[in-house]
Order: sequence, then C-alpha cells, then structure tokens
Amino acid sequence: MQITVETRAPALRAADVLALLLCQREPGSRLAGPLAALDRALGGRLALALGSGDFRGRSDETLLLYADGSIAAKRLLLVGLGDEKKLTRDAVRQAAAMAAQAASRRSSRTLALLPPTSRRVRSREIAQAVAEGVVLAGYRFDRYRTTPIPPGETPPDGLARLALLTSRPNEARGMRSAVGIGNHLAESQNLARDLSNEPPNLLTPTALAREARRVAKEVGLRVRVLGDPELKKERLGALLAVASGSHNRPRLIVLEHDGERSGRARGKVHRHPICLVGKGVTFDSGGLSLKPSTSMVTMKHDMSGAAAVLGALRAAALLKLPLNVVGILGAVENMPSGTAYRPDDILTSGSGKTIEVLNTDAEGRLVLADALHYARRHFAPEVIVDIATLTGACAVALGPWASAVVSNHDRLSERIVRAGEVTGERFWPLPLWDVHREHMRSHVADVKQTGGRSAGTITAAAFLSHFVEDTPWAHLDIASTANTDQASPLQPRGATGFGVRALVEMLRGLVEKAL
Ligand code: BES
Ligand code: MN
Ligand code: ZN
Repeated sequence: MQITVETRAPALRAADVLALLLCQREPGSRLAGPLAALDRALGGRLALALGSGDFRGRSDETLLLYADGSIAAKRLLLVGLGDEKKLTRDAVRQAAAMAAQAASRRSSRTLALLPPTSRRVRSREIAQAVAEGVVLAGYRFDRYRTTPIPPGETPPDGLARLALLTSRPNEARGMRSAVGIGNHLAESQNLARDLSNEPPNLLTPTALAREARRVAKEVGLRVRVLGDPELKKERLGALLAVASGSHNRPRLIVLEHDGERSGRARGKVHRHPICLVGKGVTFDSGGLSLKPSTSMVTMKHDMSGAAAVLGALRAAALLKLPLNVVGILGAVENMPSGTAYRPDDILTSGSGKTIEVLNTDAEGRLVLADALHYARRHFAPEVIVDIATLTGACAVALGPWASAVVSNHDRLSERIVRAGEVTGERFWPLPLWDVHREHMRSHVADVKQTGGRSAGTITAAAFLSHFVEDTPWAHLDIASTANTDQASPLQPRGATGFGVRALVEMLRGLVEKAL
C-alpha cells in the first residue's frame, strides 16, 4: 500500500472515496477548520447531513454521500469514532478499517482520509493507527481460490493508495514517519496471518524454515536453521519426541536482529538480547492422545506463536529498533504413528531435566521447554517472552476476547498488558505461584508434563517456568485469539496475527526504558 501524508485541503484531493473520521457530535454543532471549508465547497451538504441526525458519529456508524463534482473526490464517507473524551488509538484503527472496507467494496483504488484531531491522542499516534487499520482491513487469504468470489463476499482488496490529510503542516513530518511504522507493523501482522492460514500439508516445519529464510533475507535478519542432526547434538529430547511421529522433520529456526547496526544507537545497545520464542506446531493431531476429529480442524493454526515471532522480528528489522532481538521458532508436526512418542514416556530435555509424558496432546510445552532452554544457553537473554497457542483452557478462562499472560516478573507482565492496550490486543495476567510450580513435580521424573483439569493455562506455564529458571520471562497463551470464525472490519475469518504488534510495542518500550 502506498501511503502519503498531505497538507492539501480535503475538498481538493481527488480520490474514489474521501473519508472523514468524526467523533460523536450534537446535531447542529458548528463545523470548524478543514470541515468548515469542505462544507462550503459542498454547498452546506455536510452540515445538512450532520444536522439531520442521520449520522451522529457513534462508533460503528457510517454514512456514504455522493459528491456531484463540487469536490475533487467521487464519494464522501463519514465514519463515527464515538465519544471524543474516550477516543483511543483502537477506535481510530477500527474506523480506518471500516473506511477501507467501505471503499474497497465500491472498487475504489484511492482513499483519502481526514483523521480526527484530538487533545487525548497525538497526531502521529492517530496516523499510525490509521495506516494499521487500512492495511489490516485489506488482508485476504485467497491464494488457493481458483473460482470467482461469490456475490455478497467482499472482493479482493483493490485499494492501492491511502492519503492522510492534515491541515497542520508542522505535524505532517511526524505523521509521515508514523504511517511508515504502522504500515510495517500491519504488513508484518499480515505475514503472520498468511503463514498461520497456510494449510498444514503445505506449511510443514521445513516450509516454515524456508519462509523464515526468505523474510530474513528480505529485511536483513541473521538466520540459522537447526535440523535433525543439530537438534540431536543439542540433545533437545523434548522437541524431538514431539517430532518423532511425523515424516515431516522438525526445525528450530533462529533469527537475529542486530540493534547495533541500526546506526542511531551505536554502543548504547544492551549486548544481552530480548528473546522471543514461538510455538510452531504446524499441525497438532494430538499424537497418540489423538484429538477428536472436530477439535482437529483449525489445528493448522497451532504455529501462530511462531508466526507472530517471525512477524515481530521482521518489524523490528524494518523499524531498525536499537535493541538486540532474537526470535526462536520451534517448528514441529505432532502426529500419531508407530514411531510416535507415548504417554508414560520419560524424556530428557535439552536442559537435562527429565519429563514424565502424560498426554501427547500437550506437545506445545515440550517444544517450548527445549526452545526456552536453547534461548538461555545460547543467548543469555535479558528477557524471554514466549507466545503459543498452548491450552484450550485459555479459551475457557478468557474466551476470544483476550490472551493470557503468565510471568515470573510483574513489571514485565505489566509492560505486555500496557503494550496490548496501545495496540488493541488484550492480555490478562494469571497468577504463577510456587504451589503451581510444585504441582508439576513428578514421582518418576523431575517434572510432569501436565497438571490435570484445574487451572490448565497456569499449570502449562508452571511447567515452562522450570525451564527458564530466573530469567525474567513472560508466557503469552494465544490459544483463543490466534484465529477467529467471526469476521470484522480489521479481520477476515481465519488467522488473526495476534501478538505481532503488541510484541513490537513491548520492544519499543524496552528501547525507551529498560525493565
Ligand atoms: N494446541 C492445543 C491447544 C489449543 C486447543 C489451541 C484449542 C487452540 C484451540 C494444545 O497443544 C493442546 O492440545 N493442549 C491440550 C493440553 C492438555 C492435553 C493438557 C488442551 O488444551 O486440551
Ligand atoms: Mn496439542
Ligand atoms: Zn498444540
């Protein structure tokens, strides 16, 4: 998407659609600034529409008007933002997405957009949110559809250009850099969506490694891929056990963003990196503890954590974050077979700790245990954040409305919750106490893999905590947010790319202020 910031008057900007994002207003309240000039050009028809009460600027409200040549744009679209006193970046993102969808439904190529001005949200924050909303709204996964889109479905996005209009020349520069940031973030999230939507016959662990290599080359990340021989040498017995049932062999994918090379921070960058670790189970059948058929559908999305990490690393590189960041993706397929691992097995993980297997469907934590250990051993990270579609229990606890964060470090957990508030991705903390950690001790091995029906999201995290020791660490369970069957303006059905923007927002926070 080509995105520009322009200081041209709205009436003079040629476009298929000119969208105005408007906060809630009393019918008859006076138009000011660029809106007043636009209304004059329209011969008072904007004031007429607003005065009628047909459009009040509530969120989710839209009104489309056809221009008659009095302004350069073909159509005028009003989009509501809700109460000005409660304006958030997320409201702007949503409204921009609605504008983009309304425009692309009418086969528009060019969208000009007048964002709101606000004392609560800075113009550059608004600009970033607009770019994100428009780019996210344009996402489709249609590469395997050979038949025309049926009537009633939104056609593939044809929107090619977005022009943000501002009447404040001194803010244009900041807005320009902000739309660049928003564009990179949303495109990186769309990459995560693409990978997660890919079918499991095509997106195998080796294919995921190939994609990671491609992205690394595109944006300038260092990349290393470990296959069977290296994984054996590292003795990653937990990850290898999960992989043992499948002909599709595992990969541990390691990506590095070098913050020193970003120029503006030479010498100031912490040597110890931030490690992001993602669960990349390309298909989760449950293994010998086989899932029921209906639960198996959507299990192609079980690599969404890995996809989010790849997306975040891509964005970190494009934004040239002055911070060393390492991404570790544990890519494995979980299948039943004569060579598969079993319940009752005892595994020796890379850390040397032994694990009693109780259910082969709790495979994600085994993959993560070894990936977390690998992160600690090879990178001595300052912080580790893992992200995973780890437990169905998370959906029971929080539903599709939020992801869980479980951490051994309160300030880190708070940082993530805050980052999510900024990006419109909800994270909610669950406790991790010694009682949970003790609960995961085994009678026959060092730790047991599962903790029974109680507090399933927490006990999974408690298991992981045995492999991070004292490194500040947060675990993000995105089992209920990684994919959706409910389309919305920002989001078609399928993979959401949840976590990409929050992870990067957290990283940006760590640049500003260490933990
Ligand atoms: N990938 C699943 C978790 C999951 C379930 C994600 C539903 C999205 C939707 C994970 O590997 C799993 O199967 N977890 C088990 C753990 C249990 C066996 C302790 C679960 O949640 O049932
Ligand atoms: Mn499973
Ligand atoms: Zn799984």
